[in-house]
Amino acid sequence: MQQPSQNELQIFLDVATEAVMTAGVILQDLCGQLEKIEEKGRPGDLVTEADQKAEATVLEILRRRVPEHQILAEESGLLGIDDSGYLWAIDPLDGTTNYAHSYPVSAVSVGLLVEGVPQVGAIYNPFRNELFRGAKGLGATLNHRPIRVSKTTQLKSSLLVTGFAYDRCETKDTNYPEFCYLTHLTQGVRRAGSASLDLANVACGRLDGYWERGLSPWDITAGIIILEEAGGKITAYDESPLILESGRLLATNGHIHHSLSRALDEALPWLQNFYSNSVV
Ligand code: IPD
Ligand code: CA
Ligand code: CA
Repeated sequence: MQQPSQNELQIFLDVATEAVMTAGVILQDLCGQLEKIEEKGRPGDLVTEADQKAEATVLEILRRRVPEHQILAEESGLLGIDDSGYLWAIDPLDGTTNYAHSYPVSAVSVGLLVEGVPQVGAIYNPFRNELFRGAKGLGATLNHRPIRVSKTTQLKSSLLVTGFAYDRCETKDTNYPEFCYLTHLTQGVRRAGSASLDLANVACGRLDGYWERGLSPWDITAGIIILEEAGGKITAYDESPLILESGRLLATNGHIHHSLSRALDEALPWLQNFYSNSVV
């Protein structure tokens, strides 16, 4: 299949922007007004009227502007026929737990994969009126101003972020050991609760690195291209090429990538040693 031209990428970026901005207004209007908050299956995995209304709005815009493209939407699943090579990944409300508590860290995230590779992304946090955008070869912006990753080169000077997936109570494959170890090695590790904003905040240099497991394509497609275009690096934990479907990624400013990858590997033995030598 022929890759989209820069002109086409710009058009798709404008489509993504229209979608996140329109849905963002819905999120802002409904925040604190919700009558019904339900669990989707796993404890803590919430869905609200806001997720559904925001998703319906994004779907309506995509169907009107790019009717031939396939869509993967968090609440509606896979929609359309797969013959174009274009797949939109939509998270209508990334940071639902925050949102349900009126904690203002959540966003709408709309990304476009071309033959499985993220190429266009828009993320909008209506609570800070922040719009992050990026497209392959077109750069990355925050509120239309170019952004770049931080220059931090050492873990000891870095501020990181991670998250804990909803299966955290069902598996030993958590990132609890990594969270503890990296908290010792860095200036801090945040758990902000919105994967798309975590990636966006690495892209604009507020944070130096991010890692997480248990993610879905709608959480990360837009953030990946925005971060890449801002000069960041994204791989698997062991620095091998990212496999989107693995749901596991290491995303940094590039400078601390290798050190953070090594630290993730060292975390479990460090924690075991920490507790066995602890005096308390
Ligand atoms: C979640 C958030 C959170 C991450 C979870 C995601 P949701 O998305 O991005 O930061 O830790 O893994 O599922 O449920 O708020 O859309
Ligand atoms: Ca999400
Ligand atoms: Ca969501």
